[in-house]
Amino acid sequence: MSAQIHPDIETVLLTEEEIRTIVADLGAQISEDYADRNPLIVSVLRGAFIFAADLMRAITVPCAVDFMAVSSYGDGVKSTGVVQIIKDLSTKVEGRHVLLVEDILDTGLTLKYLMGLINGRGPASIEVATFAIKDIPGNRPAIDPLYVGAHVPNEFVVGYGLDYAERYRNLPFVGILKPEVYS
Ligand code: PRP
Repeated sequence: MSAQIHPDIETVLLTEEEIRTIVADLGAQISEDYADRNPLIVSVLRGAFIFAADLMRAITVPCAVDFMAVSSYGDGVKSTGVVQIIKDLSTKVEGRHVLLVEDILDTGLTLKYLMGLINGRGPASIEVATFAIKDIPGNRPAIDPLYVGAHVPNEFVVGYGLDYAERYRNLPFVGILKPEVYS
């Protein structure tokens, strides 16, 4: 796949085909781990909706889905660890096996907060599946997810649900934005 695929993209990090393989592998692993547990997949809006939709179709055991919409307090650039719940779950999680699905983990603070919140509601278990982890030298995310699709560099990464100023979520691949787009 050439970098000419989109005029704003400098480098393609993960092609559609590579994403398909990553998601299929995660789906197979989750199907094995969650056989007979009817997991509740909790997709964290907005970015994770595309990954969650694909992941769910790669899971072969019975499962349910619900959504949470959250937003970080503060300037919206850096995670503060405190998140505002814009939309809460409609499903009772007590006694359920919850699988939190995220598009990308940066500091991990958003998911740490959500895990604490959901844990307080008495689930049978709670785990995290993240499509990507941003590798930041010297930074260790606040949580350690059980299911990780890929590692990406500390750049402006967009596509497959990831946005820059609400754009590029619809790109079917993951790429790095050209600096002139955001500077
Ligand atoms: C992104 C991502 C996670 C969070 C990760 O969401 O979807 O929710 O940031 O950052 P952290 O690990 O440092 O907490 P964003 O706030 O960009 O919202 P979006 O999902 O609507 O794109």
